[in-house]
Order: sequence, then C-alpha cells, then structure tokens
Amino acid sequence: MHLTYTDVGSGRPVVLLHGFPFNRSMWREQIDFLSARGYRCVAPDLGGLGENKSDADISTMEDMARDVAALMDELKIDHAIICGLSMGCYVAFEFIHLFPKRVRALILCGPRAQGPDETEKINREAQALRVLAEGMEFAVESISTKLLARRTVDEKSDVVRRVGEMVLSTGPRGAAAAQRGMAARRDYSDDLAKIDVPALIVAGHEDGVRTPEDAEFIDERIPNSQLIVIDDAGHLMNMEQPERFNEVMFTFVEGFVAP
Ligand code: MLT
Repeated sequence: MHLTYTDVGSGRPVVLLHGFPFNRSMWREQIDFLSARGYRCVAPDLGGLGENKSDADISTMEDMARDVAALMDELKIDHAIICGLSMGCYVAFEFIHLFPKRVRALILCGPRAQGPDETEKINREAQALRVLAEGMEFAVESISTKLLARRTVDEKSDVVRRVGEMVLSTGPRGAAAAQRGMAARRDYSDDLAKIDVPALIVAGHEDGVRTPEDAEFIDERIPNSQLIVIDDAGHLMNMEQPERFNEVMFTFVEGFVAP
C-alpha cells in the first residue's frame, strides 16, 4: 500500500518507524534535530495508522516492512539507518531480514524480539475487538499508567496531551489490524545474531511496556550493539526526553555508522 510520510532534510537517510497506536508525528523532535545536521529524515505512517487509508483486517509486520521498502524505492533511497520504536522495531526486524543490504544501521527503541505466546495473542484479539466496538478512548488510560514515566506525567503536560491526541486520532480499523499483525509476528530472537550492522538499543528506565530484560536480551545477541538506558523516560523515550534521546542517537550515527 502507498504510505503517507514526512521527508525532510538532505544527506544520509534515516527512516523512522513509529510505535503503536501512534503515527509518524511522534518523531517530530528527531526530524527537526537530524534534518538540521545533515540527515534526510523519512517517517512513514505504518499499516492503517496515522493518515494512511487502509481497509485491511490485518497489517502484518512483513507487509509494513515491504511498504517501507517500496517507499524507499519511490524516494530513490537505496539504504538507510533504520530507527524503530516498539512496533516499529518489529517492522525493523522484518525489514533487515528481508532487505539486509538496505540497512546501514539499526536504532531500536523499546524493542522486544521474542514472539507472542498464546496469552498475548488472545489479549491482542480482545483489544482488536474492543477497539472496533468502542473506539480508542479506553486506550488513553494506559498513557499515564504504563506508557510514560512518572516525571513526564507530573511535569510535561504538553507531552501527555500530545500522546493522548495521537492515540485518539488513531482509526479503530487500523488499530485492530495492527494488533492482529503484532499477534501474528514472528519470533525475531534467532535473527539477532545475523545482524551485521551497528545497532543502538535505547530503553526508557521507567518503560511499563518493555522491561530492561527485553533490551538486554537483544543487546546480548546482536554482535555489534550498544545499549543506552534513558532516565526519567518511559516507553516513549524520544518524546519524553528529546534532548537526551537526540544526543544519544546523534553520537551513535556520527561515531559508529560508516558514512
Ligand atoms: C508499541 O509501542 O508499538 C507497542 O507497545 C508494541 C506492542 O504492543 O508490542
């Protein structure tokens, strides 16, 4: 499917893959920062999320990865630094599996490699049915309880509001399709040892969705990886601590990724 996207700046391409149930606007601070420093930032909406138009009942991680490759073809981008957050990491894992030569480096934010167990599959189907029946309102509750760090909730009302708006702007159909796609994802654990590009793993110290063990599991298996934990940040660490996140990302792309 054709994706809606943002394409800003010129120079080395960075493709930014958003999490669930969000959209490409979550990368605003990274796009501003990197595009001012010699990078071309491409951020698509994935599957039926954001401004994409899709009636699919399921958006698989493989479909999303192939859509990203097609967008890169359209934009004449041969290879790029691929940066994903959470669901975006599942897509990044599929992408590097399918198109290894198109990846210059990986940045994995709040990632998990293991596949879903039966309980997770059942929960995701229940969430898909609920969102189709009720809309996204119920998902807003988890923003302050699971997604964001305590300090973000207490001190950064603009971030809390922005995340809430993103969640509420997500179409139920696209959200249900992405839930089903995540329920159908592969276990990426065995792919990790084959990743032969530099990888940066970023974890939010107070992430209530991903545990530090999820990040360590990946760091232990990718041969050339480094793990950075960001304080006072939860699952949306790039929005919660943008200055620190940008510094970490920039140090990595300037210092560890071949030009
Ligand atoms: C995300 O932020 O993309 C989601 O937490 C991913 C997931 O549900 O596994």
